[in-house]
Amino acid sequence: MKRLIAVLIAVGLIALGSAALVSADNGPAEIKLPAKMGDVNFAHKAHQDRMGECATCHHNGVDSGSCRSCHDGDKAPKAKNVFHKLCKDCHKEKGVSTGCKSCHKK
Ligand code: HEC
Ligand code: HEC
Ligand code: HEC
Ligand code: HEC
Repeated sequence: MKRLIAVLIAVGLIALGSAALVSADNGPAEIKLPAKMGDVNFAHKAHQDRMGECATCHHNGVDSGSCRSCHDGDKAPKAKNVFHKLCKDCHKEKGVSTGCKSCHKK
């Protein structure tokens, strides 16, 4: 029993340690995504807290650079299209508004 408790404590400490490591590189809490339609104020931290899976959005890993570094060129689908697909598909699924003004604020 004592041993089991020791193991549980060790596992708990490791979990805490890695949580601290992750939070150190979670990126900005708020990110402004500029658009002519009106900038999109993206609550990065709120999305992380509710949808912990980083890979949902960072499909090539968190260290792969900005979305636009690939999606603004010819090698990947256009930024506007992938943002709309990613953001709106989930909003639809979760019943969040997908009206333009719910994201684009003038
Ligand atoms: C709902 C989508 C979404 C989720 C979930 C998400 N992110 Fe992000 N993250 C973004 C977007 C969009 C950007 C802005 C990227 C850009 O500027 O092109 C970003 C930017 C970042 C940046 C700054 C990168 C840079 O190049 O400036 C870091 C670091 C980061 N995210 C880490 C994380 C981590 C760690 C998690 C999971 C705990 C996470 N993100 C979850 C969408 C998301
Ligand atoms: C290193 C290059 C690279 C980075 C960085 C990158 N992507 Fe991608 N992405 C691609 C490529 C290439 C494709 C098309 C092939 C595929 O589906 O993997 C793609 C596909 C997608 C798709 C699917 C599009 C569709 O029509 O099905 C979405 C959504 C997407 N990316 C969103 C993002 C977001 C959001 C970010 C930033 C958080 C990001 N990508 C960062 C290269 C990248
Ligand atoms: C995996 C699901 C998911 C993805 C992907 C996602 N969101 Fe969200 N988003 C949500 C949920 C759920 C809410 C509602 C949260 C709440 O109201 O507490 C929300 C709320 C928002 C809101 C506030 C909407 C309002 O009507 O007040 C904005 C703005 C927003 N998201 C922008 C974005 C952008 C921009 C992206 C893409 C970079 C994105 N979201 C990707 C799930 C997602
Ligand atoms: C869920 C959030 C969301 C909704 C809803 C949304 N957009 Fe977007 N839109 C974005 C994001 C994020 C970008 C990418 C911004 C960037 O690349 O910096 C974008 C980019 C764009 C762009 C290209 C960038 C520019 O400079 O204008 C246009 C045009 C656009 N959206 C139009 C619309 C229209 C029209 C609607 C309503 C039918 C709409 N969007 C609804 C999030 C959203």
